[in-house]
Amino acid sequence: MTQFRSILVTGGAGFIGSNFILQWLSAQSAAVVNLDLLTYAGNPENLASVRGTERYQLTRGDICDAECVRSLLREHRPGAIVHFAAESHVDRSITGPDAFVRTNVQGTFTLLEQARHYWATLDEAARQSFRFLHVSTDEVYGTLGPDDPAFSETTPYAPNSPYAASKAASDHFARAYFHTFGLPVLTTNCSNNYGPYQFPEKLIPLMILNALEGKPLPVYGDGQNVRDWLFVEDHCSAIRAVLERGRPGETYNIGGNSERKNLDVVTTLCDLVDELRPNPAIGSRRKLITYVKDRPGHDRRYAIDARKITREIGWQPSEQFESGLRKTVAWYLDNDAWVQSVRTGAYMEWIQKNYGERVAQ
Ligand code: NAD
Ligand code: DAU
Repeated sequence: MTQFRSILVTGGAGFIGSNFILQWLSAQSAAVVNLDLLTYAGNPENLASVRGTERYQLTRGDICDAECVRSLLREHRPGAIVHFAAESHVDRSITGPDAFVRTNVQGTFTLLEQARHYWATLDEAARQSFRFLHVSTDEVYGTLGPDDPAFSETTPYAPNSPYAASKAASDHFARAYFHTFGLPVLTTNCSNNYGPYQFPEKLIPLMILNALEGKPLPVYGDGQNVRDWLFVEDHCSAIRAVLERGRPGETYNIGGNSERKNLDVVTTLCDLVDELRPNPAIGSRRKLITYVKDRPGHDRRYAIDARKITREIGWQPSEQFESGLRKTVAWYLDNDAWVQSVRTGAYMEWIQKNYGERVAQ
């Protein structure tokens, strides 16, 4: 790919987007323009270390706002778009699916449409090297039984939550823009990420913080659901590799080869918090595990077959789950100011709404 001066990142103030921007700026030369609406999940403090530097700019704006996207593309003329912006939490898609249709479907469509018009204005060399990388999820494939083969790029789509359905719809639009208009689109479908800066509505940070404070650890259903965990920095390096070496029009599954049952993840977290922050008043954190009412439509198992990205692009994860989890626990314990800054009134309202009615089973 020819060198370009900047890339446009959407949703770069969220969990994966901010890790991606930090990694990009330390590894690549092109500047980053970050378009983020700064919803409850977006936090500009994640990028405090690069704020004010020449190669990074944040614009607060909505991917559904065609004029905003158009003017950013016209002004910065990026060589690629890396599209993270989304509503990303399955439980929120159950209590309020509208926002998922708006941002994930309408927003992705708006971005593709503006990218297509912008791409048409580029000269031949820039048109050839331009990339639109659509960041998606393994949840579009639905759920697996215990002995089913892992999801591959040819597994049929079968989304089960409003979140997964909205991401599936956005994947279809991304595909269509390649086939119909020739826009050089790449799609990645990744498994569950964990690591620094994840908003504490998701399993791992929620459990770390509740364990630290001696609060109940709400395990949905029987705790036997399986997720395939990937350290966020490995996801970011995979996206950079696909951007550089992926074939337009292709999709790439990304995973960590780390299938774990939720209950095993939670007990490991309990033990890590006990070790790193022992508290005699709380005792063993395992005692805090509380089984609560299950998530409706809860997918039983995800697993990723990542052989295509390894074969074609040469990427593989470098972090082991146990070492990545230890680093993650240590990060949350060491970053209390960040934790307090994201646990605002709106966060406490969500915790009450999601867990208030999930009485212990
Ligand atoms: P996140 O919820 O932490 O961050 C989402 C970001 O998008 C936030 O900064 C938010 O402010 C921004 N945003 C939301 N609506 C917007 C809008 N209308 N316009 C502009 N910005 C908007 O999400 P995440 O966990 O970092 O996930 C990023 C992407 O990766 C998503 O597309 C998600 O579907 C995908 N993904 C996530 C995981 C995971 O485990 N977290 C795994 C696979 C794929
Ligand atoms: O697979 C990729 C997906 O992973 C991403 O596309 C999503 O954006 C991301 O949120 C994640 O989805 P999950 O639903 O798997 O993640 P979550 O952290 O919400 O839940 C992980 C598992 O833990 C799931 O089986 C539900 C369970 N869980 C979750 C919470 C928040 C609990 O048992 N208790 C909880 O309180």
